[in-house]
Amino acid sequence: MCGILALISGNVECDNAAVDLHEALYALQHRGQDACGIATSNTSGRIYSCKGKGLASKVFRDGAIIPELPGFMGLGHLRYPTAGTSSNAESQPFYVSSNLLDTEKLKEYLDFEAHRHINTDSDSEIMLQVFASQLLQTNKRRVDEEDLFTGLENMYKITVGGFAFCGMVAGFAIFGARDPHGIRPLVIGSRLNQDGKGLDYMLASESVALDQFGFTEIKDIEPGQAVIIPKGGSPIFRQVHPQLSYTPDIFEFCYFSSPNSIMDGISVYESRQGMGLKLANTIRETLGQDSRFVPIPDSGIVPALSVAEALDTPYRHVFSRNRYIFRTFIMPNQEKRRRGVQSKLNPLRSEFKGKNVLLVDDTIVRGTTSLQVCNMAREAGAKKVYFAISSPPVTHPHIYGIDLATLTELIAYKRDRKAIAASINADDVVFLTLEDLEAACAELSPRPQQSFEVGVFCDWPPPENFLDKSIDIW
Ligand SMILES: *[C@@H]1O[C@H](CO)[C@@H](O)[C@H](O)[C@H]1NC(C)=O
Repeated sequence: MCGILALISGNVECDNAAVDLHEALYALQHRGQDACGIATSNTSGRIYSCKGKGLASKVFRDGAIIPELPGFMGLGHLRYPTAGTSSNAESQPFYVSSNLLDTEKLKEYLDFEAHRHINTDSDSEIMLQVFASQLLQTNKRRVDEEDLFTGLENMYKITVGGFAFCGMVAGFAIFGARDPHGIRPLVIGSRLNQDGKGLDYMLASESVALDQFGFTEIKDIEPGQAVIIPKGGSPIFRQVHPQLSYTPDIFEFCYFSSPNSIMDGISVYESRQGMGLKLANTIRETLGQDSRFVPIPDSGIVPALSVAEALDTPYRHVFSRNRYIFRTFIMPNQEKRRRGVQSKLNPLRSEFKGKNVLLVDDTIVRGTTSLQVCNMAREAGAKKVYFAISSPPVTHPHIYGIDLATLTELIAYKRDRKAIAASINADDVVFLTLEDLEAACAELSPRPQQSFEVGVFCDWPPPENFLDKSIDIW
């Protein structure tokens, strides 16, 4: 999944692109906690970079590294663990300098593997190599915008799947592009340069990273569209591949993105409210109204508030959360995960004793967290424990880059509602239907008949295009 950023300052003399890139990494940290990096460049094309495993605060030593990354332009990256690669793969950014490429060999490889699927970090590197080899074919020492667009067009011809990426040609331009279906997100924004020298431009996975640093005029890169922002210039947009559909990944809305982001014109926060409202209907039909609402912080709060409002019943915030412990499922094994949940959430016992509670969360993936909180609620004295989820059962691994779980680890794998409830020690469990989830997002879309990539939620057998892979790269 990953988080990506690119920034170019209107003031080419400024040396502090890394300052904003570094801070923006924190705004997107939820998109990847596995590894991160920043690369910057000055006007002579000299590249500076720092990357490593772990959270941004660790890799950049709380910002102490930033002065060692001068330059007016740069890239930032946050990596989400993808299957099999988290331990030893190189952190991004990758870079190539032209003389490192064996273009002929690469072309052979790509011809052989034509229309390859993008599914690992090394694929990101291959895409970069393809792109660079396309640029080299121009036989120029200095590339211009046209060369970049041509390189991108040719790269699109041999890649399949969902991707979004940012890149820079050191000292010359930053650029970004999005797959022809618009599965992975990418936005661009601008702000007045603080030294009064033109405009700064930033590309990011989510608008929250732009908004927070004073960037306005935020717009989505369209499916199949690329943008180049040359030094001292304005963005140049080009459709480098025909738009095949406009189907953003619905997982961004119900789970992955920051609620503060607006993606493809849809407010993530409002979509989650809508999911809660629709979930309330399902709850009314299946469970009645005899329970109090307890969200699982933080992910369950927005839908739970909407559920409580729609059912006109009190909402209770009685699980306190330790905010210094990160998402549990990034921990490598099940036992650690279990302990992670326990130290993260703490029930307010007096609020559970003798009550029927309805716990609300945004998703169940493996069910580890859900089982733990159900047990906690029971131990705290709850009479009945119901669980409501503001998304459908996750029936497939996420193929577009989130290493959620393997197929058989998924709680919804070959389990019906009753079996899921039993395996998380709940009296009953209620899911939002896929139809409702899609409607909650589509209702807010500026495009009529908005549809979404819904791979993780679809029924068996998987749809034909299921094997398409993707990753955010640069
Ligand atoms: C860019 O960095 C290199 C290496 O530090 C330096 O030699 C060069 O003068 C710098 N260029 C500018 C324009 O500051």
